Amino acid sequence: MAGNKNLQAANKAKKDEFYTQLCDIENELRHYREHFRGKTVLCNCDDPRVSNFFHYFAYSFEQLGLKRLITTCYKNQSPDLFSRNDCEQAIYLIYEGDRNGNRVPDPEEIGIRPLRGDGDFRSPECIELLKQADIVVTNPPFSLFREYVGQLVKYEKKFLIIGNMNAITYKDCFKLIKENKMWLGASIHSGDREFGVPQDYPLHAAGCRIDEKGNKFIRVKGVRWFTNLDYKERHEDIVLYKKYTPEEYPKYDNYDAINVNKALEIPCDYDGVIGVPITFLDKYNPEQFEIVKFRKGNDEKDLAINGKCPYFRILIRRKQ
Ligand SMILES: C[S@@+](CC[C@H](N)C(=O)[O-])C[C@H]1O[C@@H](n2cnc3c(N)ncnc32)[C@H](O)[C@@H]1O
Repeated sequence: MAGNKNLQAANKAKKDEFYTQLCDIENELRHYREHFRGKTVLCNCDDPRVSNFFHYFAYSFEQLGLKRLITTCYKNQSPDLFSRNDCEQAIYLIYEGDRNGNRVPDPEEIGIRPLRGDGDFRSPECIELLKQADIVVTNPPFSLFREYVGQLVKYEKKFLIIGNMNAITYKDCFKLIKENKMWLGASIHSGDREFGVPQDYPLHAAGCRIDEKGNKFIRVKGVRWFTNLDYKERHEDIVLYKKYTPEEYPKYDNYDAINVNKALEIPCDYDGVIGVPITFLDKYNPEQFEIVKFRKGNDEKDLAINGKCPYFRILIRRKQ
């Protein structure tokens, strides 16, 4: 049993060891430049030796006009776990910008300090650092995503983090989206993304490749940015062209709403409640639609048409 538990923990940890590519960080961050001026940024799941989040903010520090960059590195407590976090001690570092004028973060300008504990984002010392931050930006462990978001909300932090689209189906996360307290980021709305993985990652795993320098990568589906930082594109209306007909848009058995299979097929002339796939959120403009409910009908069972349930639906209604 204990062996099984260790294996489960190791499997969980393996799934958490995905390293975000610099190009994905740059593509997203360029939508939010104005939010960062004079701000303290925290990357709290980031080994600065391998984290492109640390790299991005250290090298863009002056351009973004940051006040401070704090990065904490998690030290894995179980040596048999699959991780690059093999430093002897959990550490954190503070960077306050270039001092010698060469526009590069030199080692002597980066203050590395030891942490007392293992660098868990939930530990009191990491929470103290969280309190000092204005914006948290990272790719947190997916196995702890719910708890991670819960902590950001509890401490009322601005954030821009990577997760999986499935997180939308978590009750707490959906509530934040419904209440317009969290939304999807600007740059990833389809396809998959490549992440670095540790050297001992099984090469036969689906989507795994190795580059000419021997670095390993894996392609991951359903990746999205989650944020509460505003950006221009999320206020653009979806352009709708289809007209409502009862034949094309059947109603659910257990809710007075029509079913739509693609966001672009939402009829432009229907004012009642509409069930749309969760990918609608990739195009969601909170001024155009409001979110009514997730997945369940009046009987609190999954939305059904003639007894069959289409994949999860979000119930929305046109505003105005
Ligand atoms: C998905 S990886 C992303 C790493 C890095 N942020 C990046 O994007 O390249 C999540 C990281 O969180 C670390 N981690 C796992 N549990 C943690 C915890 N409780 N507190 C802080 N970091 C943790 C993992 O070791 C892993 O390196």
